[in-house]
Amino acid sequence: MQTFKTIKGLREALSAERAAGNTIGFVPTMGALHEGHLELMRRALRENDCLVVSIFVNPIQFNNKEDLEKYPRVLEEDSKILEDIGCQYLFAPDVDEMYPEPYKSEYDFGLLSEVMEAAFRPGHFNGVAIVVRKLFEIVEPTTAYFGEKDFQQLAVIQQLVKMFEMSVKIIPCSIVRENDGLAMSSRNVRLTAHERQLAPKIFQTLQKAKKLRNVLSPEELRRWTREELDAVEDFNIDYVEIAEDQQLQPFQHWNDASGAILFVALFLGKVRLIDNVRIF
Ligand code: PAF
Repeated sequence: MQTFKTIKGLREALSAERAAGNTIGFVPTMGALHEGHLELMRRALRENDCLVVSIFVNPIQFNNKEDLEKYPRVLEEDSKILEDIGCQYLFAPDVDEMYPEPYKSEYDFGLLSEVMEAAFRPGHFNGVAIVVRKLFEIVEPTTAYFGEKDFQQLAVIQQLVKMFEMSVKIIPCSIVRENDGLAMSSRNVRLTAHERQLAPKIFQTLQKAKKLRNVLSPEELRRWTREELDAVEDFNIDYVEIAEDQQLQPFQHWNDASGAILFVALFLGKVRLIDNVRIF
């Protein structure tokens, strides 16, 4: 595996791949790699001639200073994992390489900018969009892979790609879970042993909720889910939402949507966790 800290170095290596007619699969990450990331990478390796992984803890997408400071940074371990799975290129720039100038772009993702993560983490998706657009311009991938745990991020990136008519194909990948159902996340390592025991209750509740679709209205199901989660010691809920699966807007009647997803975001101690399940 070749590791690049500079945009120039990576661009040169990838232009040789392109000249050889090779397709480039890309998995952007912030590191602290787990099985969820590896699933994206294995798929990218199967579907492309080479794999580029970026590891960059993007400061401008954090709206919480402590979350940015505490975000796990384990580049050496991550590099070994990437070698083992057969990744060809690691791009691990520092902040000055990515942002030599302060970044000023403002993106408007319409309705997607008004709900859930966008409402609770102001500026977050603007920071994600800035870095992902820049990474796409550097890597020029054929395909890029994103996990559905960050479902709203995925929708924002799909809209970004449409807005700028980028040629990259975005591949959504299913959530990867621990054996007890907890959605894999780099932040999970920050949970205490006690919090780690409570965390699977999120997915357990979402699964129970899914089964109540035939007896409760969307509003009643939202309320039921919220009450179940609220009853768990140490859960501090940001939101519970049932939204249609395109612009992620809440709706009143099951017939109003062609696909529906139940979303949750909550703090468990100091760690913010998100999860979702498709209801239909
Ligand atoms: O999902 C993530 O890890 C990040 O938001 C991403 C897409 C790598 C952008 O920094």
